[in-house]
Amino acid sequence: MATQTDVSRDEALAALARAQDQRALDAWRIEWFGRKDGRLTQLLRGLASLPIGERKAAGAAANALKEDLERAYEARAEELRRAAVERALTEGKLDVTLPPRPLRRGSLHPVTQVTRRILDAFVQMGFSVVEGPEVELDYYNFEALRIPRDHPARDMWDTLWIDETIEGGLRPLLMRTHTSPNQVRIMELYPPPIRIAVPGRAFRYEATDTTHEWMMTQIEVLAIDEGLTMAHLRGTLLGMMRRLFGEERRIRMIGSYYPFVEPGADVAVDCFLCQGKGCHSCHGTGWIEMMGCGMVHPEIIENMGMDSRKYTGFAAGMGVERLAMQVFGVDDIRYWYQNDLRLLRQF
Ligand code: FA5
Repeated sequence: MATQTDVSRDEALAALARAQDQRALDAWRIEWFGRKDGRLTQLLRGLASLPIGERKAAGAAANALKEDLERAYEARAEELRRAAVERALTEGKLDVTLPPRPLRRGSLHPVTQVTRRILDAFVQMGFSVVEGPEVELDYYNFEALRIPRDHPARDMWDTLWIDETIEGGLRPLLMRTHTSPNQVRIMELYPPPIRIAVPGRAFRYEATDTTHEWMMTQIEVLAIDEGLTMAHLRGTLLGMMRRLFGEERRIRMIGSYYPFVEPGADVAVDCFLCQGKGCHSCHGTGWIEMMGCGMVHPEIIENMGMDSRKYTGFAAGMGVERLAMQVFGVDDIRYWYQNDLRLLRQF
């Protein structure tokens, strides 16, 4: 004898076979699987009111029916899809020779682009590119650069501390505040002559404004050799800046203090926005500071096991986000990491 589920199966499959388009398919789905009044839904719901003895067999049959109908529905939907494509092809509505829609390709972040351009310029001048850790030892970030615990220069470079415990000496860990620790790391590893460029992130406890972020990219350059002077430093930096900005941009170098160089200097470029007149972007000064630099302190050269009467060197650390602002004409550093595609797609 045919059961209730057999009758339902035959009826449902017959109706499905009659469905000729998506609308009919949808109507079928609602009739059988509709969440409230679907016939199958009700059948399943009705199981609860059956006497215990019948419930198990009826439940198994109802579930088998559900699976059969789901399978049949998928198969019919696929059949109709294929038929629609066939029809479109024979009626000439589907032109498979059309070129595909263009893929939307991503691009390198502007800060990455400028980082690469700067590194290219240094590589052309004979420098090698290396990298160092972002989580750094206090020793490399401060101590070895002549910035002891109580030095006021630490106030300019407060950061996130990963571990401040001091065990058996000074070994606390921090997010590096600049890429300069790599000067020491490299001098420890390699004998002169040295010419390296080190790109990487640096982190600071900083109130943000148009030229300050709490995370920035720096590129450190270091050269150690016999007879290097401030003139070599200036020439190298000028070479890089001209490659980046063209010959017409003005560059200013003024004396500045960094404990790890002597003498030290800051390098600024005239503000692209106001051409040096002073505006909100350059905080009214007409100049935007791009890097610190100087001659490596002789004490550090000696600490690294070299004779400071024979070997001298220069170092510089530049802020790539600020250089990128100038390259692309962006007046606020905070745009770089807001990740707004309307801005980033322009570069
Ligand atoms: C330093 O970090 C030194 N390590 C630079 C140096 C290297 C001096 C080698 C001598 C020899 P300073 O804090 O000035 O210095 O930062 C260097 C550059 O990083 C700045 O000129 C600026 O371009 C960029 N910079 C500094 N702070 C920020 C910040 N908060 N947001 C964005 N860029 C910054």
